[in-house]
Amino acid sequence: MGLIEYIESKREENLDELKEFLRIPSVSAKSEHKPDIEKAASWVAEKLRAAGLENIRITPTKMHPLVYGESLNAPGKPTILFYGHYDVQPAEPLELWTSPAFEPTVRGGNLFGRGAADDKGQVHIHIKALEALLKTNGKLPLNVKVMIEGEEEVGSVNLWDFVNQNRAQLKADALVVSDTSMLAKGVPSVTYGLRGLNYYQIEITGPAQDLHSGVFGGAVPNPITILAETIAKLHDKNFRVAVPGFYDDVDELSREERKALNNLPWKEKEFRKTVGAPELCGEKGYSIVERLWTRPTLELNGIWGGYTGEGAKTVIPAKAHAKLSTRLVPHQNPAKIAKLVERQIRKLLPPTVRCKFEVLSTGKPWVAPYTHPIFQKAIHALEAGFKKKAVFIREGGSIPFVTQMHDTFKVPCVLMGFGLPDENAHAPDEHIALENYYGGIKSVAIFYEQLATL
Ligand code: BES
Ligand code: MN
Ligand code: MN
Repeated sequence: MGLIEYIESKREENLDELKEFLRIPSVSAKSEHKPDIEKAASWVAEKLRAAGLENIRITPTKMHPLVYGESLNAPGKPTILFYGHYDVQPAEPLELWTSPAFEPTVRGGNLFGRGAADDKGQVHIHIKALEALLKTNGKLPLNVKVMIEGEEEVGSVNLWDFVNQNRAQLKADALVVSDTSMLAKGVPSVTYGLRGLNYYQIEITGPAQDLHSGVFGGAVPNPITILAETIAKLHDKNFRVAVPGFYDDVDELSREERKALNNLPWKEKEFRKTVGAPELCGEKGYSIVERLWTRPTLELNGIWGGYTGEGAKTVIPAKAHAKLSTRLVPHQNPAKIAKLVERQIRKLLPPTVRCKFEVLSTGKPWVAPYTHPIFQKAIHALEAGFKKKAVFIREGGSIPFVTQMHDTFKVPCVLMGFGLPDENAHAPDEHIALENYYGGIKSVAIFYEQLATL
């Protein structure tokens, strides 16, 4: 049986197996899901084995285990390292899911469930593509190393130690990742740039304890008011981040790149529909695509403090909190940006409060030229798998591992994403379009098949 014929014949079987994967609530952020994390790691290991990969290993880390498998039976041929993650984001708020987060359901040509797009569905695409090649050919035309981690959604905390301790084992001619999106339905894409991510938490303390707002109000600092005032000063009226030095190292786009990105078949109307806000906003002087993929931002992710329960409680709280993050672009330095953000927040705060400023994680941006011949092979494979024209895009999300790998091994990183921007990754009703799941398996199989030469 031919490769594509084999893949077609496995449609139902593959989908059922992906559903099984999605039923495991492998939420990396919550300790109550530790057994599910272990279960998902074993599940992945078992499927790699069934696909015909060898040397399957589950390596424990300080947090969640890494799964590794390989097929190195093509001496003299290129070696690729495939990376993905089996952990998922928490499913809350549960009541906003149309069907339960961990009971995968097909509706309207989409498979719904936490992890369907980010990243279990995409990991499964590669496992099934490798299996199809191995089952129809007996062996692979190239060497493949597969590494699937369980901590991506909590910042890949222990991954880097593992990579450093296993450099020889992980050495490859290229890194392949499917944890991104396509530009739009019918537009298969290769991503050549991601933003970096720094995450911060601040705690503002005023009074030593909560105070009666009638007895004390008017004569004491209110940490919530002060936090809100401070946060409001972090952007100017043109939506630029008002942190001195924040833009100092930002690369401006070349004229050619700007033109290429703005000429992509990207539909503002669809974007507006996905967002659903009355109007859009953003940094003056840049198109929406430029704002999303090539400009740094500062975002509030959460803010809390005081009384938020039912009814009224007259109180001046002792503390107020916020979680914020900055998305970074070349050539901003994450450590430097963290210092600038902290310095500006401290400068804005009045002497009536104390502030604890924590940097929870940092991550570098990544952009790389797509001149290596492997990128054209990726484009051709996507075009063959989807029967559509494929494009090069950048994206606004972050995958810290890609930058680390690129810096360390100086290898080309091929990001072939099969998600879509409106598939609700990290939100209720996450899903993957079945046409992209099936098209993904075909494209990846064709891609690997064509990597006998590079
Ligand atoms: N798969 C995403 C990254 C992504 C999303 C890349 C969309 C391109 C487009 C990944 O799982 C993720 O969610 N990353 C986090 C950062 C991580 C350190 C928690 C992110 O981008 O917020
Ligand atoms: Mn992901
Ligand atoms: Mn994610």
